[in-house]
Amino acid sequence: MLRTILLGPPGAGKGTQAKMIIDKYGVPHISTGDIFRENIKNGTELGKKAKEYMDKGELVPDDLVIDLATSRLLEKDCENGFLLDGFPRTVYQAEKLDEFLSAHDSKIDVVLDIAVDKEELITRLTGRRVCKACGASYHVVNVPPKKEGICDRCGAELVQRADDNLETVTNRIDVYEAQTMPLIDYYEKNGNIAHINGAGELSDVFAEIVNAIGE
Ligand code: AP5
Ligand code: MG
Repeated sequence: MLRTILLGPPGAGKGTQAKMIIDKYGVPHISTGDIFRENIKNGTELGKKAKEYMDKGELVPDDLVIDLATSRLLEKDCENGFLLDGFPRTVYQAEKLDEFLSAHDSKIDVVLDIAVDKEELITRLTGRRVCKACGASYHVVNVPPKKEGICDRCGAELVQRADDNLETVTNRIDVYEAQTMPLIDYYEKNGNIAHINGAGELSDVFAEIVNAIGE
């Protein structure tokens, strides 16, 4: 059983580490950002609403996120745990998540707070490429795919995310500092947060995460 949250600014490596965590621990990866992008791709009403906020680097309103995330947690594949990536992102979302979990006799085992400095975040995000099909993240310099423009994992095409331009990236980081960083204190009070240095090699970051979770 592993119930965990990946916390950290845009570009910290949440999605990258998530792929490694789910391979090792066999829990589902629940990324609210990925769910919104899937809805945008499919042209749903939710996608249309979310896109307005995401394109500006703002948070999607809490009421559009909370039901979405908690109903995903009720699916059968979450019975033995889950990895939340990008949710919760406001103190209100965290409170609602806690209410939901305690109503289901559940709780978060550990919150993984991945820290990386701002300059590095900007370099990472503006050079990021993501797989159209499986969502895996690459970087033109730091984490290049074996074959340019093609995903190592599934062979699909790599593209740039709509919100990875410099202006939107800068706003996303500001929004993170104002609205999501207070969650560090929130979980600090709960006593179940582990601080991970996200600045090293992928494997070093992953080793810190495994150390925090336990084998
Ligand atoms: P979301 O999709 O969650 O994006 P984010 O939080 O901005 O984070 P990213 O996905 O950009 O970064 P990451 O930490 O996953 O980094 P990655 O591993 O890709 O959210 C998008 C939007 O959706 C939000 O702005 C908001 O509008 C909305 N939204 C989502 N959830 C919401 C919620 N709960 N409430 C309200 N709104 C919500 O890595 C980044 C790059 O760095 C890659 O190129 C990668 O290859 C490279 N890299 C990774 N690790 C390393 C390393 N160790 N060394 C060198 N390079 C590295
Ligand atoms: Mg991500």
